[in-house]
Amino acid sequence: MSFPMIRPRRLRSSGTMRRLVRETAVQVDDLVYPLFVKQGSGLKEPISTMTGCFHFSPDTIVDEARQVVELGIPAVLLFGLTHEKDPQGSQAWNDQGPVQQAIRGIKAACPELLVMTDVCLCAYTDHGHCGVLNGQTIENDVSCDLLAKMALSHAQAGADVVAPSDMMDGRVGVIRKSLEAHGLPDVAIMSYAAKYASAFYGPFRGAAESSPSFGDRKAYQMDPANSDQAMLEVALDLEEGADMVMVKPALAYLDIIYKLKQEFKVPMAAYNVSGEYMMIQAAVEAGLMDRRESVMEMLTAMKRAGTDILITYFAKEVATWLRS
Ligand code: PBG
Repeated sequence: MSFPMIRPRRLRSSGTMRRLVRETAVQVDDLVYPLFVKQGSGLKEPISTMTGCFHFSPDTIVDEARQVVELGIPAVLLFGLTHEKDPQGSQAWNDQGPVQQAIRGIKAACPELLVMTDVCLCAYTDHGHCGVLNGQTIENDVSCDLLAKMALSHAQAGADVVAPSDMMDGRVGVIRKSLEAHGLPDVAIMSYAAKYASAFYGPFRGAAESSPSFGDRKAYQMDPANSDQAMLEVALDLEEGADMVMVKPALAYLDIIYKLKQEFKVPMAAYNVSGEYMMIQAAVEAGLMDRRESVMEMLTAMKRAGTDILITYFAKEVATWLRS
């Protein structure tokens, strides 16, 4: 059968009809809101590289978390900042660090909110790389041990989910074993499994003060040209004990999300990263695109590709729109 028997426009004829036949929907239940926390008190400072995002201190982040709960968003993802950087990134596992304090504060005030934490050394090392150095190269196995210390410290403070974003080989297994050995078998791991060496992290590196002092991250993060390797990365992380896996960035990697979801029937997250966020902010500010329409279209595309979980700086706005 063909035209005129078949007229696809019939199913687009009204808003109600379109609603009825819609295949994909962004829901508030899908959202994770990333937040930045640093030492101090009473802080809520605008982040210059990321319009609409703030640096909080461990006390003020609790009020923010309450708002997130009020909006119905199920989870936050915490990033820490410190000025006490050293070659190992040892502040990352300081039990009194800003992230650890924030976890305790948020879990006390909002026990039902899932607290996820980014596990990576780049914001804590004085050289800004995601692991420790041996000359100019990043040492894999030693870095895994330090990342496991960091993840354990977050878990002991009460994190529900730890999310390693460093891209060292084997780190998920080392973290999983350490959580088991310390009586924390129920803490979930969401691995940044297919994380690409991307220019789209630019605004974030200003926000997290985590730019590498030399070189780049191409010797550990994935080459944007590759997709077979994403399959291997995810397979390995699942074998090592990851519960959820992530593709990052999201918008330029929808094919990766699609391929992975076809192959692995596990919860899949997409990180709508800082560069994707700021591209929209900039276009909207320049009067070139409609904010709500473009944000919802972008996030819907990620869900259509197969993601279950949307990590996005737009989460609060999206939750508000979904209510109206
Ligand atoms: C830490 C980390 C980065 C992001 C999340 N975790 C930066 C990087 O790898 O350089 C980027 C998030 C964003 O751009 O929104 N390694």
